[in-house]
Amino acid sequence: MATKAKTVFYCTSCGNESPKWMGRCPACGEWNTMKEAPAEPKKAAGGASRAVGISERRPQQLREIDYSQDARISLGLGEVDRILGGGMVPGSLVLIGGEPGIGKSTLSLQIPLSCSNLRTLYVTGEESAKQVGMRAKRLGGDDSNCSIFCETLIGTVIEEARAMMPDLMIVDSVQTMYTDTVESAPGSVSQIKEVAAALLRFAKESGVPVILIGHITKDGFIAGPKILEHIVDVVLQFEGENRGSYRILRSIKNRFGSTAELAVFEMTGTGLREVANPSELLIPMHEQGLSGTAIAAMLDGTRPLLFEVQALVSSAVYGTAQRSATGFDARRLNMLLAVLEKRAGFHLSAKDVFLNMAGGLKVSDPAVDLAVICAVLSSNFDFAIPADVCFAGEVGLSGEIRPVGQIERRVQEAARLGFKRIFVSSFSKVEGKPEGIRVVKVADVPALVKALFK
Ligand code: TYD
Ligand code: MG
Repeated sequence: MATKAKTVFYCTSCGNESPKWMGRCPACGEWNTMKEAPAEPKKAAGGASRAVGISERRPQQLREIDYSQDARISLGLGEVDRILGGGMVPGSLVLIGGEPGIGKSTLSLQIPLSCSNLRTLYVTGEESAKQVGMRAKRLGGDDSNCSIFCETLIGTVIEEARAMMPDLMIVDSVQTMYTDTVESAPGSVSQIKEVAAALLRFAKESGVPVILIGHITKDGFIAGPKILEHIVDVVLQFEGENRGSYRILRSIKNRFGSTAELAVFEMTGTGLREVANPSELLIPMHEQGLSGTAIAAMLDGTRPLLFEVQALVSSAVYGTAQRSATGFDARRLNMLLAVLEKRAGFHLSAKDVFLNMAGGLKVSDPAVDLAVICAVLSSNFDFAIPADVCFAGEVGLSGEIRPVGQIERRVQEAARLGFKRIFVSSFSKVEGKPEGIRVVKVADVPALVKALFK
C-alpha cells in the first residue's frame, strides 16, 4: 500500500501546528485559520542551537560579555531609529508588517536613500529593478550606496549577501521569497518559516542587520507575519487608513527596546514624511469648538500625544441602538455608556453612539476615557466643549475618575500646545505649578458634568 505524503495543519494566525484539521485553532481561538502544508522533515539533533547562530558554546559570566562593539546603526530616519530603541542592532532581524499598499516598500526604500553611508543590499521579489529605480527617483535622496537585487530564491539571496557583506540588507517581501528545500508554494506557512529562519541564521552569523517586509491582511487569513513574531527580534507594524495620508508605525515586539512607542508619517507625493510632533497634526484646526469632540492627553510610550476624540450620538432608528468604535475598544465604550446611564443619569440606551479616534489612531491608554465621555455628552447635548480644554483620566465602574500615570508630562504638553485647562482626577498629584494652564480636578462623572456643562 502506498503511503500518503505526510501533511500537517498550521494556523495562519499564530503558527500553531496540528496533525488534523480543526475549524478553530485551539491555541489562539481564531476560526478558519488552519491550512494544510507538507510536513517538514525532522532536523538532526543539534540543529536548533546552530539555527540561532550562537558561536560561543560555553556559559559566560554576564559581566564578561563584550557588547561594546555592537553599537547601534542609525537608519537615517529619526523616527524609525527611535521606534527601534535608538537604531538597529547589528545582526538583528526586523519584520515590518502591514496591509498591501500601506507604504512598506516606500519606507524600506527610503531607508537606504536617507543613509548613504551604509552599503545596502535591497532585495526585491515584487518589483523589477527598473520599477525600484523609478520609485527611488521619485523619492529623491542619495542612492549611491544601494544595490538592488531582484531574486526570489532565498539561497541565492543569502549567497550574494555573504559575498557582498553589506551594512544593511532589506528583503521585500517574505511572501515572495522561497526555498527549494521545502516543496510548498512561495507564501505558504512552511515556506515563510523557512525563509525567515534562513535570514535569521544569516543575520546572526554575519552580524548584518536585516529588515524583512511582510504583508498582513485585516483578517490575518493569508499566512502572514503573525507566525513569524516569535522568530524575529523586532516586529514593527505599519498601519493607517488607506484613505487618509497618515501612517502609524508601531512596535509590537522589540527585544532591544520598548514596545510602547509609535511614530507618525505622512504619505506625500514624494514619499513618507516623518511627523516629529504628531499632536499638532491630530488636533483640529477649527477655531470654534464643534459639538461631539474632546481632546485627550494620551501617552504613547514615553511621549505625550494630544489628539481629538470624536463622537456622534443620535436617536436610534431601529429597535436596538447601534454602538460603533473606531480605534477604541468597543466593550470599553459600552462600559463607559453604562456608567453615564447608571451613575450620572443620562439616558443613552435608546441612542446610537459612534466613536472615532482622529487620524486613524488605535488607543489603549485608559486616560482617554475622560475625553470619550465628554465627546459623547457634548454630542448628546449639542454643546461644544471650548477648544482650549483637554482631558486625561480613567473612568471607573462607579463613575469615579481615577488618576493616570505621568500626569505632569501630559499637563506640560497640553500647556505647550496652548491649552488653557486640563481636566484630571482629583487624586492626581501634579507636582509644581505648570505655566499657562489650569489643572481642574474632578472626583467623579457628576462633578465633571457640573464643571464643564453647567
Ligand atoms: P507601497 O510602498 O508600494 O506599499 P506596500 O509596499 O506596503 O504595498 O506604497 C503604496 C502606496 O503609496 C501607493 O498606493 C502610492 C503611495 N505612494 C505615494 O503616495 N507617494 C509616493 O511617493 C510613493 C512612492 C507611493
Ligand atoms: Mg510593496
